[in-house]
This record gives sequence, C-alpha cells and structure tokens, in this order.
Amino acid sequence: MVDPFPEHAVQVLVVRQDAPEVRARLDRYRALLDTGEREREARFHFDADRERFVIGRALARLQLSRYLGGDPRQWSFVANAHGRPELLARGGAPTFGFNVSHTRGLVAFAMARTTDVGVDVECIDRVLTHDIADRFFAPAEVATLRALPARDQARVFFDFWTLKEAYIKARGMGLALPLRHFAFRLRAPAPPAIAFDPEIDDDAETWQFAQAWPTDRHRLAVAVRRSGADLDVRIEDVVPRVDE
Ligand SMILES: CC(C)(COP(=O)(O)OP(=O)(O)OC[C@H]1O[C@@H](n2cnc3c(N)ncnc32)[C@H](O)[C@@H]1OP(=O)(O)O)[C@@H](O)C(=O)NCCC(=O)NCCS
Repeated sequence: MVDPFPEHAVQVLVVRQDAPEVRARLDRYRALLDTGEREREARFHFDADRERFVIGRALARLQLSRYLGGDPRQWSFVANAHGRPELLARGGAPTFGFNVSHTRGLVAFAMARTTDVGVDVECIDRVLTHDIADRFFAPAEVATLRALPARDQARVFFDFWTLKEAYIKARGMGLALPLRHFAFRLRAPAPPAIAFDPEIDDDAETWQFAQAWPTDRHRLAVAVRRSGADLDVRIEDVVPRVDE
C-alpha cells in the first residue's frame, strides 16, 4: 500500500540505535541493502558506525517505498558530485529529496518534495573547542558564541554546527560551500535565519530551518528550500518496520 506524502510537509524520522526493537531488526534492515551498500558496510571499522549506516540506508529505502510503492530493495542511489546519495530518477515517479545523518546513538532521516533538504544530528557529549568555531563559523557566529556565559556556549555551538551542516547538506555540496561565508542568527522562539556573504549565490528568503532535541544529548537541525509558505516540519521517533 502507498501512503500519500503529507502535503506541505518535511518528514523527519529519528531512530535510536540502542532501542531493543531496533537492535532486534538489524538483520532485516541489512537484507534491504544492495551490493554496493553491503560492500561499503563491510569497510566500516567499528560496529556502531556500520549499524548506523545500515539503519540509515534501510530507513531511506523503506520510506521511499512507503510513499512511492514497491519493494524497498528496488531503489538505486547515485552519488552527486559531492557525494550526496540521491534517488536515481525513474520515469514518472514524483520527485522526493531525502537526507540522512548519523551520530553516536542516533540516525536521522529527512524527506521532502524537493531535493533541497538536509538534516544534521550531533551528540553534544563530544569535546569542543573555540578553535573549531574559529575555523568553521562565520565571524558573526563566533562573536555570538564568545559573548555568551560559559555554561551556554556548548549548546549554542551545536546549534550553529547542526544548522550549518543541515544547510550544506540541503545544497548537496558538502564542504565545497565555505562555512564561514554564511551565518545563522538564532531567534528563539522564532526559527533560525540565515544570511549569505556575496561569495554564496543564494536567497535567504527561500530557506526554512527547524531545530529539535530528539534526546537531551542530541541536537538536530533541518534545512529545506520552499517555494511558498513555511512547511510543516514533522519530527517523529520511529522503529523502522520491515514486512516479514
Ligand atoms: C559529508 C558531509 C555532507 C556530512 O558529514 P557528517 O556530518 O560527518 O555526517 P552525517 O552523518 O551528518 O551525514 C552523512 C550522510 O549524508 C549524506 N551525504 C554524503 N555526502 C553528502 C553531501 N555532499 N550533501 C548532502 N548529504 C550528503 C549521506 O547519506 C551520508 O550518509 P551515508 O553514510 O549513509 O551515505 C559533510 O558536510 C562533511 O564532511 N562535513 C564535515 C563536518 C565539519 O567539519 N563541520 C564543521 C563544523 S560546521
């Protein structure tokens, strides 16, 4: 059965790697992958990374089949020039964009009716330094960070980090987009806004951003380009189901 994709929506699914229901299904997820993905899976050094890769690709396949129909094993992905896996276009199929992100303990997946969609999730337990902000953040972001009391800096660091990653992932260009040449403004409770230096040819008004805390250790950001009003960003915790 094919479900209609929710109108004017971005779907964001979050999978907890350590959930017993997820662990019990890892073999079934693995069985959905194609030869290239299995070769890649075999090259991971650590089991935890391997599992997150398997979960991410299985989730992408299951969601595409949910909305487009057919067997989740049928989908072929091609990497764009910067490595983003995209759905190999098939005649007549509606276009969807999707993006996957993994971090310690979590896999996130975003899907929309545009290819310009990106998601990033980070575990905030990791050690951070001002050096990273100085190297990768825009001057305005660095200034915002440094002006904060020490106790708030880690949280805001990951706000900027995940938003910047979500944007470059939505553009599908990875680090080919200079991270220092666009800056986020955090305006909670309003959504974050982006501003571009002249080096980046893009229109800030076309972008929508959303943030979430899927757990108290994980920060998530989504970026999507929309043509009209804001989309409905639906974030859900799931255990991907595979038909027996
Ligand atoms: C590769 C990159 C797109 C994301 O890397 P990441 O944050 O380490 O990893 P994530 O788990 O969030 O994303 C990886 C997934 O994104 C997708 N992806 C790969 N290349 C991509 C690209 N160019 N654009 C969008 N998505 C991409 C893939 O689905 C990949 O998952 P896969 O292993 O299942 O194929 C890129 O942005 C990168 O290398 N970033 C470096 C991080 C950094 O230094 N940031 C500085 C602070 S902001």
